[in-house]
Amino acid sequence: MNLEKLPRHVAIIMDGNGRWAQQHSLQIARGHQAGVESLRDIIRESSDLGIHTLSLYAFSTENWRRSPAEVSALMALLLRYFASEIDELDEKNVRIRILGDKSGLPEPQRIAVTNAEERTRDNTGLNLCIALNYGGRQEILRAAKSLAKKAREGNLDPDAIDEAAFSDELYTAGLPDVDLLIRTSGEQRLSGFLLWQCAYAEFEFPSTLWPDFTLKEYHQALEEFQGRDRRYGGRK
Ligand code: FPP
Repeated sequence: MNLEKLPRHVAIIMDGNGRWAQQHSLQIARGHQAGVESLRDIIRESSDLGIHTLSLYAFSTENWRRSPAEVSALMALLLRYFASEIDELDEKNVRIRILGDKSGLPEPQRIAVTNAEERTRDNTGLNLCIALNYGGRQEILRAAKSLAKKAREGNLDPDAIDEAAFSDELYTAGLPDVDLLIRTSGEQRLSGFLLWQCAYAEFEFPSTLWPDFTLKEYHQALEEFQGRDRRYGGRK
């Protein structure tokens, strides 16, 4: 793996857990469980490669519409994940950030993720962003409301609102824009993930279902990115 020109910010939509479970005649929860195994490997590798930020779409604001059994399986996995991984992540100098509205999470999950954020706050390695109860439009509206309030209170000149000021109101404040977005399972949609931050992102849509996504395929996506010609609307 050529370590030059790696993306600074990789975002992943981990799609296909349900289809994987179906293919293996297993309950959906087992698909998500298998998805956590993939996620573990990808996080470790991103940290080892020196990637600056990795963002994972774990639970959208729309995912509450799934069956209560599936929602509670995902919430249980989340708790288990933080309990079992936090020591290793902290040792690896990973900083955890939650993207999304934590207040809408059940209390045990809210406490676990907040503790993980606080415990790893001063870490300087991989920034690991986990999107939970996240929606891209919701994130943008929240930023707009926050700026509007500051303006109403007289603390902000509306003419001073530029891209940097807006970015600072997003969950990803202080982090770079997304360079590479990967969505597994062959679906080619953004589903509201990091709408603002993906303005100039490169996209990769491997057909592999998330639980089958290997480090080899991750490397392939990174190499493909390294070969892309990014012009940001300019000309070479
Ligand atoms: C999409 O697959 C995946 C999700 C909605 C959840 C992703 C969550 C995890 C991998 C595990 C939980 C996360 C953490 C951080 C512990 P799908 O169910 O929509 O797949 P389908 O389209 O094949 O049905």
